[in-house]
Amino acid sequence: MTEKKEDKMKKIISLAKRRAFVYPSSEIYGGFASVYDYGPYGAELLNILKSQWWKYMVQFREDIVGLDSGIFMHPKIWEASGHVGGFSDPLTECKKCNLRLRADHLLEDAGVFADEKMAEEEINKIFFDNLDKIKCPNCGGKEFTDIKKFNLLVKANLGNFTGDWTKEPCYLRGETCQGIYVNYKNVLDSARVKIPFGIAQIGKAFRNEITARQFIFRTREFEQMEMQYFTRPEDEMDEYEKLREYRWDFYIKHLKIKKENLRWKKHENLVFYAKEAYDIEYNFPFGFKELEGVHARGDYDLSQHEKFSGQKLSYKDPKTNKEFIPHVVESSVGIGRMVLALLTEAYTEEEVNGELRIVMKFPKKLAPVKVAVFPLLKNKPELVSKAKEIFNELKMHFMCEFDDNGNIGKRYRRQDEIGTPYCVTVDFEALEDESVTVRDRDSMKQKRIKTSELLEFLKNDPEIEA
Ligand code: GAP
Repeated sequence: MTEKKEDKMKKIISLAKRRAFVYPSSEIYGGFASVYDYGPYGAELLNILKSQWWKYMVQFREDIVGLDSGIFMHPKIWEASGHVGGFSDPLTECKKCNLRLRADHLLEDAGVFADEKMAEEEINKIFFDNLDKIKCPNCGGKEFTDIKKFNLLVKANLGNFTGDWTKEPCYLRGETCQGIYVNYKNVLDSARVKIPFGIAQIGKAFRNEITARQFIFRTREFEQMEMQYFTRPEDEMDEYEKLREYRWDFYIKHLKIKKENLRWKKHENLVFYAKEAYDIEYNFPFGFKELEGVHARGDYDLSQHEKFSGQKLSYKDPKTNKEFIPHVVESSVGIGRMVLALLTEAYTEEEVNGELRIVMKFPKKLAPVKVAVFPLLKNKPELVSKAKEIFNELKMHFMCEFDDNGNIGKRYRRQDEIGTPYCVTVDFEALEDESVTVRDRDSMKQKRIKTSELLEFLKNDPEIEA
């Protein structure tokens, strides 16, 4: 990581905390590794992203429906899915400082290809063959323990009152899509869908990640937005290509992420059931890394659930009467990673009149607050009451904020750091001519608008979305 990139990451983390986007978990108790809390603007951003994803994946599509399944499920589901047996990362420990580390990440940082799917023996060999290139990122130590695969599923005692629940645990879900597979038949029988169709879901997932890394990029509790599309076997790869294109367009056209900050990465080492897998990578401050996965999963998931549940999960084609297990193509993204990509994309430093201006240039429809309303002076009741009147009207249409703290310059700076597209100021002129000053976040240009035309002006901005 170059110093400049590290700098940008630090600046984003600092702004995220200072401006109520993201807080470290349990801070007053000394923190809790790899979990983060979203503050008032972060929560707003999460809700906006979820609703934009839902709109794009469900509302815009006649062939995709939504689902909200439980976090807890029958433990056998995780045996069927392969998570109990094989959902693991390669763990090693620095012998000097005892820090636990992911061996594949250490190799990756040293420029040696490795990934978490490699067998224990294989990764041990690569690791110790390349030991001269590897050092502990914490203490610089060069000695490490043998690599062991560590299962990532988080265990729980839900409904188990035996005292020793570890023998028969249930699990917090490691991915949301298993809830989709086990409800595939319910949806098929009750929601008037026909193959090909998709089921979309947003929800929490939990993984015992070995290393806390890169802020909200890799956390132990995170939210996924996943869509599983059920196809005829012979159509799987065509649907896969269509889904790749559709998801790429989501970032470029729908979220307006710069093309040069995104790229495709093909998986070289596929999980045994996958036919093809690509990541959409984003240019985070620490380099291009996985933002979203788009995978062709074949009939593995439904076949496994058919085998383990004993229930028939095949589909009878109404046209041909042919019976088959649908094949699945999926799109899967963590919202935390999407938030980090957007914070990175929006973070802008500018010099204005010799001073630094930090401004979050979110696309207007993604900005947590759309309009801020200020009375010019806090101690002039006539200005305050006029500004309140305008705020009370606008808040019924947009997420708005009323601010009468400090001078106007400070209020602008605060709204710039939150990314608010418009600031409306009520000054003395406003009391005489029934107009206000509207300041644009990006150009910083101000114009006067009649109070009676303000709502219409904002609503007519095609980029803002209520
Ligand atoms: N259902 C497929 C699946 O879960 P994955 O590659 O393990 O595949 C999909 O995860 C996406 O979930 C990733 O591309 C990433 O956006 C997000 N994700 C995975 N692990 C994460 C973690 N520990 N923290 C934050 N996001 C994570």
